[in-house]
Amino acid sequence: MHSIRPATPNDAAAVAHLAKELGSPGSVEDVDRRMTAILADGHHEVFIAEAPDGSTVGWIHVFLSLRAQTAPFAELGGMVVKETRRRQGIGRRLLEAAETWAIGCGAAKMRIRSRDTRSDAKAFYLRSGFAHSKTQRIFDKDLR
Ligand SMILES: CC(C)(COP(=O)(O)OP(=O)(O)OC[C@H]1O[C@@H](n2cnc3c(N)ncnc32)[C@H](O)[C@@H]1OP(=O)(O)O)[C@@H](O)C(=O)NCCC(=O)NCCS
Repeated sequence: MHSIRPATPNDAAAVAHLAKELGSPGSVEDVDRRMTAILADGHHEVFIAEAPDGSTVGWIHVFLSLRAQTAPFAELGGMVVKETRRRQGIGRRLLEAAETWAIGCGAAKMRIRSRDTRSDAKAFYLRSGFAHSKTQRIFDKDLR
């Protein structure tokens, strides 16, 4: 049975490794720096799914999104389950941990932004009680 626990900065290497499966190949140093900042911020949490042998098989990052014009809501920063461990309920348990954390923060809603091409994720979120509410266009600008 896998256990779900809050992350510590020591999890950075495992988080970075699994992030590659998301197509986000950050260096361990980069992820370490970001995790330290994220975990020091009370509006963010990361949960780790750990196998009985101590290896990390998934993670989820949830944060409270604060906007002047709307009530606070929770958002997913990312989640991934190791490819060889999918369809074993690990994603469901990670999401439950994130939702429990969000409820404890007073969030009335959870939002997930997911690329249209992620069909696994789409099926998972729909199965987990989420409904497609809107389609947005994302605008980026390089500031460097
Ligand atoms: C999306 C993801 C996190 C789901 O994790 P998981 O541990 O495999 O999910 P679970 O085993 O808890 O699945 C729960 C239910 O969701 C549905 N589901 C999950 N993956 C599915 C898939 N590929 N196709 C259809 N339904 C799926 C099923 O109903 C499943 O229950 P079942 O296996 O009893 O039928 C995982 O596929 C993943 O890491 N994908 C790549 C990264 C990614 O897309 N992350 C999201 C970025 S927005």
